[in-house]
Amino acid sequence: MCGIVGYIGDKFAAPFLLDGLTKLEYRGYDSAGIAVFDGKEIFIEKTVGRLDALKDKLKNNLPNGSIGIGHTRWATHGRPSDRNAHPHTDCHGDFVVVHNGIIENYMSLKEELIAKGHVFKSETDTEVVPHLVEEYYQGNFIAAVREVLKRIEGSYSLVFMSKANHDELICAKQDNPLVVGIGEGENFIASDIPAIINRTRSTYILNDGEIAIIKKDSVTITDRNGKVIDKKIFHVSWNAEAAEKGGYEHFMLKEINEQPKAIKDTMRGFIKQIRPAKNNNDERIAQDGSQIIFPELKWDPAFFNNINKIYIVACGTAYHAGLVGKFYIEKLARMLVEVDLASEFRYRDPIIDDKTLTIFISQSGETSDTLAAMKESKQRGAKTLAITNVIGSSLAREADQVLYTIAGPEIAVASTKAYTTQLILMFMLALYMSQLRNTLSTERTRELISLLKKIPSQISETLSDVEPIKTFAQRYGFNEHVFYIGRSLDYDVALEGALKLKEISYIHAEAYAAGELKHGTLALIIEGVPVIALATQKSVYDKTISNIKEVKARDAVVIGIAAEGDTELEKYIDHVIYVPNTDELLIPLLTVVPLQLLAYYAAITRGCDVDKPRNLAKSVTVE
Ligand code: F6R
Repeated sequence: MCGIVGYIGDKFAAPFLLDGLTKLEYRGYDSAGIAVFDGKEIFIEKTVGRLDALKDKLKNNLPNGSIGIGHTRWATHGRPSDRNAHPHTDCHGDFVVVHNGIIENYMSLKEELIAKGHVFKSETDTEVVPHLVEEYYQGNFIAAVREVLKRIEGSYSLVFMSKANHDELICAKQDNPLVVGIGEGENFIASDIPAIINRTRSTYILNDGEIAIIKKDSVTITDRNGKVIDKKIFHVSWNAEAAEKGGYEHFMLKEINEQPKAIKDTMRGFIKQIRPAKNNNDERIAQDGSQIIFPELKWDPAFFNNINKIYIVACGTAYHAGLVGKFYIEKLARMLVEVDLASEFRYRDPIIDDKTLTIFISQSGETSDTLAAMKESKQRGAKTLAITNVIGSSLAREADQVLYTIAGPEIAVASTKAYTTQLILMFMLALYMSQLRNTLSTERTRELISLLKKIPSQISETLSDVEPIKTFAQRYGFNEHVFYIGRSLDYDVALEGALKLKEISYIHAEAYAAGELKHGTLALIIEGVPVIALATQKSVYDKTISNIKEVKARDAVVIGIAAEGDTELEKYIDHVIYVPNTDELLIPLLTVVPLQLLAYYAAITRGCDVDKPRNLAKSVTVE
């Protein structure tokens, strides 16, 4: 996720900007830059790569001004490069902007601005913003910014700087964090508290829709229309380490809680509202429903009708997301999909030709087995699609086409928000394919899209009451074996739940397709063994209940995961955790959340190092 800093005061801005960006390094970034008004011009330096590279460039050339902004970029639109690094400017360098988020309508704005003669220097969505300021500026900086905010759609925290108005910085927030630090004769801006914590502990935490006008000895906060807001100062009591984790005890917990936003960000731009068109004969888009679009996919729509085989290839948690992806594509787009572990795929002589599509899922985009599998399938003539969280990663560079999850950097070794964003992307891809292949009715498409939009708030609901999960973790966290069972999509989620528990709490956990128990595993079920039973799939519900009765009859302690409204399950088992109700296709996005939390609290109960489990690395770059 991009990092933002800003300074206005009596001291030199550059040392604070570089120090603040260093404090935000933990968030991950691919390029960095600063802009400082030096008394005459706005001086800008930026570079792809580490902050050290930026500091090196500035070594003998540190600008002297006392108003400036800085940025570390986590690429979303446009590869990591010097040109795409922030800050960005208008045509003449009079207005400079740093941005965290996504401007959804940048394509149409860019076309409009180019038609008016603006010259763009980067491939970013952000660059439309300073050009828009240039367009609207008529001597009143804040008035121009307000006009710009009316034009842009999407998520942002933005800081604006102007050569002509070098006694103030303006910032605006929508869906991305922004904090103003209040000093004496100086004020600070940051996307996160760690950047300012050693300068001040008095802050304004901006809310969506708020604009801050920051001078060296005043901060005025208004709404979009200019109405002044009387905002309370928030005193930060966290230490630096807690501040990096946003006040959470571990990155894993922070990332579990970031899932609603990560999912919203990943969906952004892919759901298009279709207006009724009078002369439109296409029944699929003639009504006022929504459609899935993938502007990034440059394949001809006929492509999905011409391929005859799909492989999904990945490792670990990403492989589990692939299993759910297979279910989605087969169910919605009616195409046969095979899922392979990347470490196995290329050694089994897979049947591939130029009508094969191979989809590679990887959070990091650097997993060596996944990369090797991609190279192998390209050599054999397949078309390749990467689904990754890291722009410019090796997998993204190697693939024919790429779709990005917008989860932001995942720091905890145990993957959480990457998994749910991978599921969302696979679901939207399957829906997109179903539209092209005409395999789903308009009503069903519309129903699924409207349920899809509710998922972020339903995850927030699931996250709002963790006490029962904590209690189970404390009660059963010292067991040596835990079993997870489920059928259909519940089984796929069970696999992910068991992996989470294994990797961070070191409890031996196994997931089984519930119907398979009696073929061997039932022998391990004895009195007191915890069994986590997922029972959300309506088509196999009765059969799952029968399997649950089988383990209950062996005196296992059964904790069920069910959808709200299920009154049956609790009759047979010890405890039930309910998640909000939705379509059974989408419910894995909700049922996995209590399983992530259960693993987290079990690890805490056992005193394990949650963010850095033993023997594991975040990215496995060796075979
Ligand atoms: C488990 C986990 C790993 C990764 C796997 C693939 O929590 O994080 O199983 O999912 O190593 O990593 P990526 O997705 O980076 O290819």
